[in-house]
Amino acid sequence: MKKVTVSSLLKKKQAGEKITSLTAYDASFAKMFDEQGIDALLIGDSLGMVLQGESDTLPVTIDDIAYHTRCVRAGTERAFVLADMPFMSYASAEQTYANAATLMAAGASMVKMEGGRWLCDTISGLQLRGVPVCGHLGLTPQSVHVFGGFKVQGREADKAQQLLEEAKALEAAGIQLLVLECVPSSLAKTISEALTIPVIGIGAGKDTDGQILVMHDMFGISANYMPKFSKNYLADTGDMRKAVQQYISDVQNGVFPSAEHSFE
Ligand code: KIV
Ligand code: NA
Repeated sequence: MKKVTVSSLLKKKQAGEKITSLTAYDASFAKMFDEQGIDALLIGDSLGMVLQGESDTLPVTIDDIAYHTRCVRAGTERAFVLADMPFMSYASAEQTYANAATLMAAGASMVKMEGGRWLCDTISGLQLRGVPVCGHLGLTPQSVHVFGGFKVQGREADKAQQLLEEAKALEAAGIQLLVLECVPSSLAKTISEALTIPVIGIGAGKDTDGQILVMHDMFGISANYMPKFSKNYLADTGDMRKAVQQYISDVQNGVFPSAEHSFE
């Protein structure tokens, strides 16, 4: 069994093969997703919403993410494991290094941070110290109060151009993966084509290099509301393993997301 790494993910993009990804928070689901052949598992700060029942991701702490990262790592043999840096855990460089170290020691192989150009120095600093970084642009949920709600980003031409420039700046700073959340499909396509590194979309249309969903949304069991861009695969299949298999094959075959799960 070959382990998924940053280089095998990059090779997938180069070969035009879609990357499949889900969030996971515990060993049992991580093991099941891993066995079904998922490429990457994210310990997302979405756990604030789907595990803790909060209305946004802001209350999540570094200890929460570290705990769930240890759980996921324990259940994972092959998939690539990345973990979210929670709200305000990367506000300064020193704090970022200490918190990233905590997540890497807990079993993450990469950390994810929300934001654009302002993160560039931290990203190269982390990489020089042995920590691979995933960027996150578009609807970055930790900024929900700046946006004034969970809203699609990059609809206006100037905002779209700005997002493209931020993505290029992050790549130049050294990110090895980028999550694009809730942006128009055409913009996500442009950004995915402009970058060498793989771009994983959520609510970003079918033309990114891969897809990610919050596992509870994919099973249709979230405590909060179900986002438009998500799909309940358990309803279609009636079986958790089959639901995961269907999700993986739909992403690989370009069936998911369809227009109804995307924004224009
Ligand atoms: O927290 C999370 O689950 C995420 C994904 C939705 C990308 O950041
Ligand atoms: Na997140």
